[in-house]
Amino acid sequence: PERKVIFSGIQPTGVPHLGNYLGALRQWVKLQDEAAPDTTLLYSIVDLHAITVKQDAKQLAQWRKEMLASLQAVGLRSDRSILFYQSSVPQHAELMWILSCNASMGYLGRMTQWKSKLALPDSASPLDSSPSNKSALKLGLFSYPVLQAADILLYNTTHVPVGEDQAQHLEFARELAISFNHTHAPQAEAPLLVPPTTILSPAKRVMSLSNPAKKMSKSDADVKSRILISDSKEEIRRKLRSALTDSIEGITYDRENRPGVSNLVNLIYYMDESVGASPEMLAQDMQGLSMKALKEKAVETVEDRIRDVRERYEYYMRLPPSELGELAEGGGQRAQDIAKGTMKRVRTAMGM
Ligand code: ADP
Ligand code: NA
Repeated sequence: PERKVIFSGIQPTGVPHLGNYLGALRQWVKLQDEAAPDTTLLYSIVDLHAITVKQDAKQLAQWRKEMLASLQAVGLRSDRSILFYQSSVPQHAELMWILSCNASMGYLGRMTQWKSKLALPDSASPLDSSPSNKSALKLGLFSYPVLQAADILLYNTTHVPVGEDQAQHLEFARELAISFNHTHAPQAEAPLLVPPTTILSPAKRVMSLSNPAKKMSKSDADVKSRILISDSKEEIRRKLRSALTDSIEGITYDRENRPGVSNLVNLIYYMDESVGASPEMLAQDMQGLSMKALKEKAVETVEDRIRDVRERYEYYMRLPPSELGELAEGGGQRAQDIAKGTMKRVRTAMGM
């Protein structure tokens, strides 16, 4: 069997919420804990991606730290997985440039995430730099998928766990690797850049507590719409109590007509799959509960499953900054060791 290299990244945009945890981070930990001894795992805090939109320096520094503490809190271990800040490995930007010279504008322009931005109106004022003005869109945002391809290809990644929304970018990275190899190393026995395979995470979409038609997101202005992995039991209870449900009696699982109730059932089920065979079965078991009791059950389940994570988060946030910094540096060094090897091969193949 091939030696696996698993890579994934998350933006430093504050403490993760339960959607991030259930949709991505918990899967990362599972991959780590089930990995063969010769599997390499890299999990990157992708700060270079974060700056494709305007960032405040102090805020970004804080968010980077919170994400590093969070990755360790959820169970990623720096003695097993390589945890690092993307910007601490300069080869990401270097490979990105080289790949940019091979990436077609037409293909990039067809990416749905970019196309959704193009639907924005043009501002009347050339000085309007708000993100809702189409003319103010930045080159970095357009070329974001090229950086993402570089992130992955730099480490000879074989497997990338991502959500459905990233599948198109992954296909772009794959095709870029194949065409790059064809251009620069057509005769090579082993591929110069390894075309990666996607591991689609099992769909675990957590919806906003205030508006279950939208996914739980950190960009939601309403802070009660999401539960953070650092929230105390009181905060969890306060947010769940105010979650939008309905006034229908009893509990049923019906995502279309009872999105709020179904979201709470999903949340309980995702947090602790031992509670039933499926969200539908769980809802049946809970059919006699009042809304208040359903919410309390959600509070208890979330608290039970997040308590350790929260305590570890607090522990890492309390460490002297130098200790957390050392940890990130160690990961950055290990990542660089691999990245340097790839860049050497790439440069040689290109005559540089
Ligand atoms: P946000 O929408 O809060 O900005 P990101 O887009 O940064 O989150 O996503 C980080 C990771 O978390 C991605 O893998 C994404 O698929 C996952 N994720 C984000 N929100 C949710 C959610 N509500 N339910 C499930 N997974 C989610
Ligand atoms: Na997002």
